[in-house]
Amino acid sequence: MDDKHVESDLARVLITEDEIQSRIRELAREIEIDYAGRDILVVGVLKGAVMVMADLARSLDRHVAMDWMAISSYGSGTASSGVVRILKDLDTDIMGRHVLIAEDIIDTGLTLSWLVANLQSRGPASVEICALLRKPGAQQMAVDVRYVGFDIPNEFVVGFGLDYAERYRNLRSIATLAPHVYT
Ligand code: PRP
Repeated sequence: MDDKHVESDLARVLITEDEIQSRIRELAREIEIDYAGRDILVVGVLKGAVMVMADLARSLDRHVAMDWMAISSYGSGTASSGVVRILKDLDTDIMGRHVLIAEDIIDTGLTLSWLVANLQSRGPASVEICALLRKPGAQQMAVDVRYVGFDIPNEFVVGFGLDYAERYRNLRSIATLAPHVYT
C-alpha cells in the first residue's frame, strides 16, 4: 500500500519507500562483506520484521537461511516491559551458527536485549542485529546493534511492518499517524 491510499490517516511520511529500499541495499552490501565465507541464519521476529526480512534477504546476493520467532512482551499498553514469552520458537538448532536478527524497530531495546541473551544461551557462533529503525531510548540499553537503517525521533511510527491496531503494516513507507486515528 502506497501512502497516498491512506493520506488522510498520516501526519508525516518520515522515510519513503525509495529511501528504505536503498538503505536496505546498502546494509545488504555491508552484510555480504562482513559475512564473506560464513553461512548466515537470519532470524526474523514476528510480526513486524516480515518486511525487513523479505527485502533484506532478497537484497543479499548470496545464500541465507531464514527462521522465525514469535515473542510476546508483557506490559501495559504500548510500553515494553522486558518480560518476554516465546510464542513460536526457532525450528533451527543455532549451535555454532552465525545468527543475524532482523528487526523492524528498536524502541526501548528491551525485546532485543532479552532475545540476544536467549539466543546466546544456545551456543551460536555469533549473534548480530540488523534493525531498520532505532529510537533514542534504545541507546540507553546495552544492546549492540551492528546494522541500523535509520535513527528516528521518539514518535509512534507505522508502516513497513509496523502497525497501529494491526493496520498499516503493509504501508511501503514509514510514517506518523494523524491524531484523529487514535481517537
Ligand atoms: C515491536 C518491534 C520489536 C519491539 C521493539 O514489536 O517489532 O519487536 O516492539 O520494542 P522494544 O525495543 O521497546 O522492546 P511488537 O511487540 O509491537 O510486536 P509486532 O512485531 O508483532 O507488531
